[in-house]
Order: sequence, then C-alpha cells, then structure tokens
Amino acid sequence: MTILVTGATGTLGRHVVGRLLRDGHRVRALTRTPAAAADLPAGVEVAVGDLTEPETLAAALEGARAVHLIGATGHDHAPLRTGPQITAMAAGAGVRRITVLADGSEGGLTRAVRDSGLEWTFVWPIDYMANALGWADAIRATAEVREPYGARRTASADERDVADVIATVLTGGGHAGRRYVVTGPEALTPADKVAAIARATGRELRFTALTDDQARLQWRAEGWPEEGISFMLDMWATVPGSVAEVTPTVERILGRPPRSFDRWATDHADTFRAHARNQHPVKCDMRSTST
Ligand SMILES: NC(=O)c1ccc[n+]([C@@H]2O[C@H](COP(=O)([O-])OP(=O)(O)OC[C@H]3O[C@@H](n4cnc5c(N)ncnc54)[C@H](OP(=O)(O)O)[C@@H]3O)[C@@H](O)[C@H]2O)c1
Repeated sequence: MTILVTGATGTLGRHVVGRLLRDGHRVRALTRTPAAAADLPAGVEVAVGDLTEPETLAAALEGARAVHLIGATGHDHAPLRTGPQITAMAAGAGVRRITVLADGSEGGLTRAVRDSGLEWTFVWPIDYMANALGWADAIRATAEVREPYGARRTASADERDVADVIATVLTGGGHAGRRYVVTGPEALTPADKVAAIARATGRELRFTALTDDQARLQWRAEGWPEEGISFMLDMWATVPGSVAEVTPTVERILGRPPRSFDRWATDHADTFRAHARNQHPVKCDMRSTST
C-alpha cells in the first residue's frame, strides 16, 4: 500500500520515511517545494501540496491507504485549521488509517479526526531531542549554551523513536482510537543535556541560565524580532509540568526501551565538535518571522 507522509522533509518526517522504506512500504512524501525533497532516499515518490490549501492535496492522496499528518505548521507551530477538509478528502480517496501528530486535546483538528471514519491514532512527542541541534552553533563557537528557564525538565524523545512508533502504528493493527505520548527514558534539564553533549564530544561545555531580561537582550542582539522573543518566553513560561512525565509508549509499542539523550548525543557528537560545519538549521528559529 502507498503511505503518504506529510512533514516528510522535516526533522521527524525524514525518519518516518526512512523507517517505512526500510520496512518495504511504498512511500509518498508531501512537500510544498520539491527542492526540499531532493535529498530524500531513492524510491520515495514526491507529491507537491500545501496542508493549509487542501485543494492542492488531491494528487497526494490518490491511491494512498494510510497517511501520517502533521497537526501544526509554521515556525510558531500554528495548529492546522484545515483538518476537516483534509480528513474528508482522505476518507473520500480511500485512505483507511491515519496517524496525527497532535496531542489529541479538544479542538477542531481532534474533532475532525475523530469524526472522519478513518482508523485514527494521535501520536504526540513532547519535544524532540533534535531540538538540541539549535545549540550547535553556540557550542562549536563558544562552548557555552545560554538560555532562560534553565530548571525546566523535559522528557524529550529521540525523533527516531517517534518515527518508529508512527511507522508501527501506520502499518500494524491494534492502535485505532488511541493517543500515544512519546517520550525518552528520563526528564532532563538543558544543563543535563549540555553535560551529555560534553561527554559525547569530550569537550568542556557550560550551560548558563538567563533571566527573561537577559534572554531578551541576547536574542535582540542576535537579531530576533520582538514577536519571536515573546513567543519563546511565553512558551517556556506556560509549559505544563506534564512535559517532564516519562511515558512507557516506546517500550509498549516497539518492545524495546527508548533511546537515551546520551545515546542521541553520541550519535550526533560530530555536529557539536569545533571543526564541524553547520548542517542543521536552528529549530524554533523565529528570526525569519515577520514583525
Ligand atoms: N520540535 C518539537 O519538539 C516538536 C514537538 C511536538 C510536535 N512537533 C511538531 O512536529 C511536526 C514536525 O516537526 P519537525 O521538526 O520534524 O518539522 P521541521 O523540521 O520544522 O519541518 C517542517 C515540515 O513540515 C512541512 N510543512 C510545514 N508547513 C507545511 C504546509 N503548510 N503544508 C505542507 N507541509 C508543511 C515541511 O514541508 P516542506 O517545507 O517540504 O513543504 C517540513 O517537512 C511539526 O508539526 C511540529 O509542530 C514538534
């Protein structure tokens, strides 16, 4: 069967595509700009479409029997408002199963998915370990990470584990009507993660916790727009305590423990070494957001 993967050119979606291909499935990758899909593995069919303009998705959905749908788009992770149209089109095109990357809380997307008649599963990663790639420039250049909310603990998941859960749900039975929160094996502070990167790279690294005012000054000096600065500070100020709760999802769905941040840091150590070239864009980068 053909499986349509949205977000396929992104941090998570690339792993979903890779895992499905390795398991022998036919994969169609959605992108707004084909150039973004140029480095996807051979064998992936590329479909052009925009989730915010459902009328562009007909060809992408044609012949697909399962879909992985991202529930938010844009730098500010704005919730997808076109859920009702997309799920109706998917059902009409013969799609039977859908994984939705959303927390499944009450809202338009959740209602649309529940009412769609599709075999649906919400999969929600609290936070990707790959977000730490946003520190790579600073770590390479200054051996220091400077951020506010230094005491926050997050049960970040390795994006490869999130992808494995999604691929398993898309291709196996028994997950309809479920909501899976995917985490790593432990809740870590940013300082814990920097220490793990230091161990993995053999470099001496420092984490410095900033006050909101210090963060504001730093990000202004880096050229962030006020809107982006407020978004980040508001986000961190209002993050619920549940982001530190470790879930058994990976073990239950995949039958093995989740990868640790130490493992992730070891696998990405080269990116944080002083000689490495920047290969990864800063995540949650608001600098391109217009003011
Ligand atoms: N970062 C986190 O910790 C975290 C945690 C929970 C959930 N999420 C969610 O996870 C999803 C994927 O994140 P990521 O970090 O893997 O993504 P990413 O690396 O930022 O890439 C974004 C992906 O979304 C696609 N996309 C964006 N807007 C689109 C639109 N209007 N129509 C079609 N495709 C669109 C992009 O495709 P093209 O550019 O090729 O069109 C790209 O594949 C996002 O929805 C994000 O909100 C992230």
